[in-house]
Amino acid sequence: MNSQILQVIYLIGSVSFIIGLKMLSKPDTARKGNLVAAFGMTIAILGTIFLYEGILVSNYGWIFGGLIIGSILGTVTAKKVKMTQMPEMVSLFNGMGGACAMLISAVEFRHLTHANEAGNLPSGELLIIMLGLIIGSVSFVGSMVAWGKLSGRVKDYSLSFQQVVNIGLLLLILGAMFYTIYSGTPDVATYFYAIWTMSVIYGILFVLPIGGADMPVVISLLNSFTGVAAAMGGFLYDNKVMLVGGILVGSAGTLLTIVMCKAMNRSLTNVLIGNFGGSSAASEGSEKFGGTIREINASDSAILLKYASKVIFVPGYGLAVAQAQHVCHELEELLEKEGVEVKYAIHPVAGRMPGHMNVLLAESNVAYDKLVEMENINPEFATTDVVLVIGANDVVNPAAKTDPSSPIYGMPILDVENAKNIIIMKRSMKAGYAGIENELFYQPKSSMLFGDAKKTLTQLISEVKAL
Ligand code: TAP
Repeated sequence: MNSQILQVIYLIGSVSFIIGLKMLSKPDTARKGNLVAAFGMTIAILGTIFLYEGILVSNYGWIFGGLIIGSILGTVTAKKVKMTQMPEMVSLFNGMGGACAMLISAVEFRHLTHANEAGNLPSGELLIIMLGLIIGSVSFVGSMVAWGKLSGRVKDYSLSFQQVVNIGLLLLILGAMFYTIYSGTPDVATYFYAIWTMSVIYGILFVLPIGGADMPVVISLLNSFTGVAAAMGGFLYDNKVMLVGGILVGSAGTLLTIVMCKAMNRSLTNVLIGNFGGSSAASEGSEKFGGTIREINASDSAILLKYASKVIFVPGYGLAVAQAQHVCHELEELLEKEGVEVKYAIHPVAGRMPGHMNVLLAESNVAYDKLVEMENINPEFATTDVVLVIGANDVVNPAAKTDPSSPIYGMPILDVENAKNIIIMKRSMKAGYAGIENELFYQPKSSMLFGDAKKTLTQLISEVKAL
C-alpha cells in the first residue's frame, strides 16, 4: 500500500515540476512556478523518507540532520546573495547536485560489487553508475571552478594544446569505462577509481580556460550535465520523480544554453574554446567612427525627459552593478506622473544571466507589462523621443548589424539609434562584455551622461522634480 501511495506522490511531484517549469517562463508567474516546483520536490523527499521501504529508521538522524543543515545553508545563502552574484550562487548549488550524483554512483558501485562478489557485474547497471559518476564529477568540479572564477578566487588558466589534452582525456575516460564494463576485468575497482580521478581532472581542465565572462553559458551547460547525472540515479533506483526531474533539468539546461548562444550569435564551440572580449578602453573611437562624443549633464537630460511624450529605458549590466533598479523605477513613476509614456526594452542577454533584467526590475516592482521584449520594442524606437540607455553597451551596439568583422556581428540588438534622442548613462568610455567600441556613442543623436547609474538616476529625479 505504501509503495502505491509513494507512486502517486511521485506522479504529483513530476507534474509539479513540469507545471512549475512552464510557469517560470513568464515573469508574472515565475515566483509561483518556483513554489510549485519546490512543493513537488518537498513531497517527493518526504514521501521517500516515510514511505520507501528500503529506508532504515535508524538513519533518520542522518537524514534529518542533513536536511536541516542544508535547508539553513540554502535559505541563508539565497537571502543574502546580491543579484549580481546570482550566477555564482547558481553555480555553487548546481555543483552540489553534481556532487550528489557522483556520490550516489560511488555508493551504488560498492553495493553492486558486494552483491556480485563471485561473478561479473551486470553491465547495464555498471554503465549507468559509471555515467552518473563521470557526468556528476565533471558537473561538480566544473561548477566549483566556475564559482571560483566568478567570485574572483580562480584565474583563467590554459595549458598549451589545452583542447587536445581535454579531448584526449575525455577519450581515455570513455575508453576506460567501456573496457571496464565489457571486459569483465577483475580489477574493476581500480578502474572505477581511476575513471573517477580522471573525471575530476577533466572537470577542472574543461572549465579553467573558459573566459570568466562566458561563465553564465558554461554554468547553464553544467546545469544540464547535473540533470543528466540525476536522471542516471532515476534509472538506477527505478525512481520516476528523479528521472523526470533529471530529464527536465537536463533538457532545460541544454535549451537555455542553445538560446543564450543564439542570442549572442555565438556557437557553443566558440564559447568553450574562443577567447571572447576583454576589458579594453575605447580610445580610437572618434577616428574610427568619424564622430565626436557629446556630453550632456543631468539637468539638460531632465528637460529632455520631462518634455518628451514617449521614453524608453534600456537597462543593461551597469544597472545591475550599480543596483539602480529602485531609483530607475522611481524615475519611471515620476515621468509617468508628468504624462510621459515610459517603457523598458528588454534584450534577451542584457546583463550576465538569463532573465537578469526581468528579475532585477521585478524586484523593484516595475509592472510586467512595461517590460517589452526586443522583437516587440524595436519597431517602437522610431516613434520615441528619448531613449535612456542605463549601463547597457553591447546590446545597443550597431556593429552587430553593420560590421562583419565585429565579434558580435549578427547578434540581434535593440535599434535605439532610430529614436530622436539617445542618452547613454555609463561611467566612462570603457567597453562592455565583448570588449569592443560602440559607434552609437559617436552618433549625432547620442549624448553621454557619465557617472554611476544609481547616482545619476537619483540626480535626474531631483532635476525633473525641480523643473
Ligand atoms: P555590457 O555590454 O557588459 O555593458 C555594460 C556597461 O555598463 C559597461 O560598458 C560599463 O561601462 C557600464 N557600467 C558598469 N558599471 C556601471 C555603473 N555602476 N554605472 C553605470 N554604468 C556602469 O552589458 P549589456 O549591454 O547588458 O550586454 C550584456 C553582455 O553580456 C552581452 O555582450 C551578452 O552577450 C553578454 N552575456 C550575457 C549573458 C546573459 S544570459 N545575460 C550571458 C553571458 C554573456 P563603464 O565601465 O564605462 O561604466
